[in-house]
Amino acid sequence: GMPKFVKIVEVGPRDGLQNEKNIVPTFVKVELIRRLIASGLPVVEATSFVSPKWVPQLADAKDVMEAIRDIEGVRLPVLTPNLKGFEAAVANGAKEIAIFASASESFSKSNINCSIDESLARYGEVTSAAEKRSILVRGYVSCVVGCPVEGLVPPLKVAYVARKLLEMGCSEISLGDTIGVGTPGTVIPMLKAVTTVVPVEKLAVHFHDTYGQSLSNILVSLQMGISTVDSSIAGLGGCPYAKGASGNVATEDVVYMLNGLGIKTNVDLGKLLGAGDFICKHLGRQSGSKAAIALSRA
Ligand code: HMG
Ligand code: MG
Repeated sequence: GMPKFVKIVEVGPRDGLQNEKNIVPTFVKVELIRRLIASGLPVVEATSFVSPKWVPQLADAKDVMEAIRDIEGVRLPVLTPNLKGFEAAVANGAKEIAIFASASESFSKSNINCSIDESLARYGEVTSAAEKRSILVRGYVSCVVGCPVEGLVPPLKVAYVARKLLEMGCSEISLGDTIGVGTPGTVIPMLKAVTTVVPVEKLAVHFHDTYGQSLSNILVSLQMGISTVDSSIAGLGGCPYAKGASGNVATEDVVYMLNGLGIKTNVDLGKLLGAGDFICKHLGRQSGSKAAIALSRA
């Protein structure tokens, strides 16, 4: 049956801002994070400790962490691609990290410059270091239904990578439709394969909205027992190494749908709209959230 509470993982400050053409100033990132937290979101992915040559948009990760060091009572994971990123994250106060593997070889190569198995070996080092320091690890699987190069990705491949992440100690595994090509027709078989190897309580779904399928995909995921949903304020987002990928599903739209379903999130939609407005004004762009646009006219 459907969950009574859904935990929303806000990825806007990371997935959203990593893909902006213009680099957003640190103080704007920090204000955004604070507003997102104030709206009641329990998890806000704050930044990435990746190579600044690969993602210059998040090269200020250290400064962002410094500015949010006082915040308590919420989870603030940061992306780390290897031990170097892990060490930097922990040195700068991270209490939770996220590692990101791929279910497609081509995307693994273009995103983190190594094969899937090489990445899993690296992540094994990261998760053992994390365990020693009681750092929580969230694991992503990218390209869970489609890859920009390889096309359809077999559900068994996704289940394989998800199981490896579980075995190395990830507390939560987020299934990413990186390029947003999935529909319930491909998402359901993928989830069936993954839930045979990972307990559904540990799974999250992460949809990009390239083809406008995210809310349908989230609804079927909820019906299959998933109760953690990633989303991004104002629908910001995309991966610079996934050609054609658009923004994540908008957090405002997810909250609007969950409110309609009577599913609790603890998020104040009014405050969330304020956070979306803040970042859209800064970016000089209309929101990618249909609910935000409709509610601003109402
Ligand atoms: P590489 O070039 O193979 O790395 O990149 P390397 O180990 O050969 O090192 C090269 C240089 O990078 C060295 O510096 C290292 O010190 C440095 P140099 O000697 O040239 O001055 N370096 C680092 N610097 C800072 N932090 C680090 C780090 N590691 C090495 N952690 C690497 C390999 C993984 C580093 C690179 O490919 C990378 O940073 N990739 C990250 C790409 C990325 O962030 N993509 C977006 C996030 S994933 C995503 O959006 C999908 C998701 O949302 C889910 C979904 O939608 O499906 C999560
Ligand atoms: Mg993403």
